[in-house]
Amino acid sequence: MDLGLQGKTTLVTASTDGLGLATAKALAAEGANVWIGGRDPGRLAAALEALRPPFDEDGRAGRVEGAGLDVSDAASIRAWVAGAAEAYGPAIDALAVNAGGPPPGPFVDFDDAAWQKSFELLVLSAVRTIRESLPGLSVRGGSVAVFSSTSVKEPIDGLVLSNSLRSAVVALAKTLSVELAPKGVRVNSLAPGRFSTGRVERLDRATAERSGLSVDQVRDRSRAAIALKRYGDPDEFGRAAAWLLSPASSYLTGQLVTVDGGSLRGTW
Ligand SMILES: NC(=O)c1ccc[n+]([C@@H]2O[C@H](COP(=O)([O-])OP(=O)(O)OC[C@H]3O[C@@H](n4cnc5c(N)ncnc54)[C@H](OP(=O)(O)O)[C@@H]3O)[C@@H](O)[C@H]2O)c1
Repeated sequence: MDLGLQGKTTLVTASTDGLGLATAKALAAEGANVWIGGRDPGRLAAALEALRPPFDEDGRAGRVEGAGLDVSDAASIRAWVAGAAEAYGPAIDALAVNAGGPPPGPFVDFDDAAWQKSFELLVLSAVRTIRESLPGLSVRGGSVAVFSSTSVKEPIDGLVLSNSLRSAVVALAKTLSVELAPKGVRVNSLAPGRFSTGRVERLDRATAERSGLSVDQVRDRSRAAIALKRYGDPDEFGRAAAWLLSPASSYLTGQLVTVDGGSLRGTW
């Protein structure tokens, strides 16, 4: 199936590693022009190098460019979105809203400052990125996908900041799906389960330290709870995200799409 992304302008925040990078890769492999960003200049340079065409077997990869970005910072977001317009023109066809994860830990570990910082990272980052991108998204309509977590349906032990704040972002996406529909802008959320990324490696190590289990035991326990009995490959998430961001999902808006190998057990 052709996803209809050839030559489209696509922006992916927090995309120099993990799920964001995998999404950028899937979009570029479909021929989209992709704009990526992250805080660490070395990681950004490595990601741009990894995504330089021709990295896909079909040789139809789109352009991949990027700039430094801290999604916790309003000025940085503004400059990053402006940079995309300079590179590809004013229209935005797809926007993936990602951020780094907040620190793990129980409720008693976090003071007001920690909550404020995580609010800036997860909630305000989405508000600001979508607000800055709205003029571009309104040029010819577009698709926004907000990266969330299965924790919005089933809170994950030891992740109180993520469990709480991500629900606000999914509610924002649902609200915007109605408000922005007249502009031809679709807004959906993606809920990843457990993918093999640097973040999950760090979380597994933190759980091992807290529980006295080995990292392998922690992973075995996590895998056992997933219907497919394995962590996802980030590319499996990237392909789902690229589809949701593409015209191929044209009748979907306001949805929370779970990509979790069957870890959630509820019917709904
Ligand atoms: N992996 C999973 O299975 C999973 C499951 C559920 C939810 N999630 C959530 O999905 C998001 C991505 O997860 P991941 O596993 O891909 O994380 P990851 O492996 O840690 O990668 C995070 C990426 O975001 C960038 N980033 C972090 N903070 C940033 C900031 N303030 N501004 C701009 N870029 C930033 C990082 O680069 P720099 O550090 O250089 O900025 C890196 O490129 C996280 O919020 C995570 O909690 C992941």
